[in-house]
Amino acid sequence: MSGPTQPVALVTGASRGIGRAIAVRLAREGYAAVINYHSNRAAADEVVQEIAAAGGQAVAVQADVGNSADRERMVAETLAEFGRIDVLVNNAGITSVGRKDLLEATEESWDVVFATNLKGPFFLAQQVAREMIRLAKRSQIDYGTIVNVSSISAYAVSTNRADYCMAKAALQMMTWLLADRLAELRIRVYEVCPGVIASDMTAPVKEKYDKLIADGMSPIRRWGQPDDVAAAVAMLARGELPFSTGERINVDGGFHIRRL
Ligand SMILES: NC(=O)c1ccc[n+]([C@@H]2O[C@H](COP(=O)([O-])OP(=O)(O)OC[C@H]3O[C@@H](n4cnc5c(N)ncnc54)[C@H](OP(=O)(O)O)[C@@H]3O)[C@@H](O)[C@H]2O)c1
Repeated sequence: MSGPTQPVALVTGASRGIGRAIAVRLAREGYAAVINYHSNRAAADEVVQEIAAAGGQAVAVQADVGNSADRERMVAETLAEFGRIDVLVNNAGITSVGRKDLLEATEESWDVVFATNLKGPFFLAQQVAREMIRLAKRSQIDYGTIVNVSSISAYAVSTNRADYCMAKAALQMMTWLLADRLAELRIRVYEVCPGVIASDMTAPVKEKYDKLIADGMSPIRRWGQPDDVAAAVAMLARGELPFSTGERINVDGGFHIRRL
């Protein structure tokens, strides 16, 4: 292989929660990590420091994934800093603004949720895939991996988060489309589908989920942790499913199993 020898992972929304755990885990496994954040610079810096303290490499890059100029700058900064991209984790996401019942749902929430949770991930994957194809042709990476973080909300209805559910549902088709188009170009694409995970996103509805979990919402009766999701992403990045692409990996304590 020619060029920089350390593999590189770009993780969106890596300043907090699930993205943070993914970035820390990939850094521990030898990746140079790009810690994308939207507005919380202090949290992103903390992640960079945590990785550096453990002997890893990381850099924080501000970008709104819903903004095209920001996405372009983020990819350019990644290449300028580390010289290659092996893994893209489309993790950044927001919940429905105000969690309003669908009869009260607003276009403002729709626009920002779809920009962040669907448009951004699609066009970032497109841009990164072009770079991965170029790098693979020059033997500067072995293969590329794109992981899209969706949700059980892709198929489980929450009528107070209609836009969120619809954007997450579309990520499955996006994963299939990218997987089909990119397979011959040495890029595998996966969807990781978390259940209820302890993070800032779920903190405001903690009591509701405490009760649902205690009542047996999922066969494994506990909150998921960001590290549970990170373990799945790390397995995919390591290439442990070499004859699989377009696959959905559930990280949900078995929530997806229909039960009588
Ligand atoms: N928590 C769950 O139970 C759960 C379940 C299923 C799926 N998920 C999905 O998992 C992903 C991560 O969720 P989380 O619970 O870790 O969320 P979180 O704790 O709220 O963290 C969100 C992260 O995304 C970043 N972000 C938000 N908007 C962004 C934007 N426009 N551009 C770039 N970064 C942006 C935030 O950056 P700042 O720090 O700068 O704000 C932060 O790093 C999301 O896609 C979410 O839908 C979560």
